[in-house]
Order: sequence, then structure tokens, then C-alpha cells
Amino acid sequence: MSNAVAPAIEGSDQADAPLHVAIIMDGNGRWAAARGLPRAEGHRRGVEALRRVVRAAGELNILYLTIFSFSSENWSRPPSEISDLFGLLRRFVRNDLATLHRDGVRVRVIGERDGLEPDISALLTEAEELTKNNNRLNLVVAFNYGSRQEIAKAARRLAREVAEGKRDPATIDADTLGRYLDAPDIPDPDLIIRTSGEQRLSNFLMWQAAYSEFVFVPIHWPDFDRTALEGAIAEYARRERRFGGLAAKAGS
Ligand code: IPE
Ligand code: IPE
Ligand code: MG
Repeated sequence: MSNAVAPAIEGSDQADAPLHVAIIMDGNGRWAAARGLPRAEGHRRGVEALRRVVRAAGELNILYLTIFSFSSENWSRPPSEISDLFGLLRRFVRNDLATLHRDGVRVRVIGERDGLEPDISALLTEAEELTKNNNRLNLVVAFNYGSRQEIAKAARRLAREVAEGKRDPATIDADTLGRYLDAPDIPDPDLIIRTSGEQRLSNFLMWQAAYSEFVFVPIHWPDFDRTALEGAIAEYARRERRFGGLAAKAGS
């Protein structure tokens, strides 16, 4: 994800619309616990929220929607919960892929693919292949993803090129490293939303978030919907992004 500048979108009420929204979908377990339900039920309801939000993102002219669905550190959860989460991913791809494709959604996956169960890996590849020519909405799924791991992988690939005599270390700057990340063609997120009230990145898009705006919402992910998304976008529209420069003055 490079630091591309968002093109202006037609229509005055769209002027401050984020091109790329990234979401840390958090709070499924607490949503369930508050209702005396098993955590798995929170995850199941979380998939329903995801469906709503993908639909809303398309309607709101968001071009890129990145969702954090399983982190490199989530392996430290109990095996039964990991199995529930992987089962939901399988079901989501099997049940929803045709609809996503019909709706013009292009699915991209970032994160470590090596070491995943072969059927999961195959489903992710199938989703990417089937939808690769779509361009209405890019749904970037961060699965088995950790930002430190992604940056380390980029550094490893660059180091290999240097070791093989194919690259001069002096050519490595921030843009070069950015091009070795998992989805270098996708612009950096304009807006990062985290649900459930937690205010941290938890190893999500640390490189790409250099100039993102953060909106933390108190509701748990299963309760997130179009209205909540619109609320976060309205908050984003009130922010002034400066990218290290000076505030833009009206009329200047
Ligand atoms: C988010 O909900 C889903 C994943 C991290 C996979 P959690 O499972 O983290 O829910 P809480 O934070 O325990 O409530
Ligand atoms: C971040 O949530 C990962 C995902 C949403 C997939 P966690 O629930 O794993 O984060 P921490 O452990 O509270 O920081
Ligand atoms: Mg959590």
C-alpha cells in the first residue's frame, strides 16, 4: 500500500469520503459474554456484521475495505476457538463468494499463507482468482496477518536481493520497502476503525497507518452496521489531515 493521494470523488457530499477504510473487527467475545452466549456465537454474528458492512461500503463508494480477521497472534487462543474461526472463514468463502463476485467485489488477501491448512489456502486463492477482474470494491482480508511479520518478510526479500548481488543497499528507501509489502498497489488506509472500545493497533497495518485517521467506536463488532460506518466516516470528514505540512486555509 503506497501513500497514493485519493482522487476527488464527484459530488460535494463525497469530497471528504475516505477511499480506503480499514477495520479492526473487535469485541465478538465480549458481545457474546454480555448475553450469556458462547464466544463462537459472537464470531458467527460478527460474520453477519461483515456482510452488512461490505454491502454498505459498496453503497458508500468506498473503493478499498480492509478487514482484520485473524492476527498472527490469534494463534495463542484455545484450539477450539481457532477452529471455530477457521470454520467461519470456510463458510464465508463458500457461501458468499458468488454474491461478492456478482456485486463486483475483488477479494485480496494479505498475511502469511504458508503454514495454513491446504483447504483454507486453496479457498483464499480461489476467491482471489475468481474476482481478480472486479473493481467496484476491493475487499482486502487480513488473515494470519501481522504487520511486523509483513515488514520482516519485505526486509528478508530485499536482503536476499542484496546477498545475490542484484541490489545496491543504497537503493533501499521507504518507498522501496513499501513496494515489498503484501499489497503494494493498494493505497494506504485513510481511515482505520476499531470497534469494542480498545484503542490500539494490535499489529495491524503499522507501516500503512503512518498518516491514517483513527476512529475508535465503543460498540462491539456484531452490533456494527451501516449507521455506525457512516458515523465513523462523518468523524473522519471533520478531521484535518496535514501529512506533515501546514493547515490548508479556506480560499488560499
Ligand atoms: C474479534 O473479536 C475477532 C477476532 C479477534 C478474531 P474477539 O474474539 O477479539 O472478541 P473480544 O475482544 O474477546 O471481545
Ligand atoms: C485484533 O484483535 C485482531 C483481530 C481483530 C483479528 P485482538 O482481540 O486479537 O487484539 P488484542 O489481543 O485485544 O490486542
Ligand atoms: Mg479482541
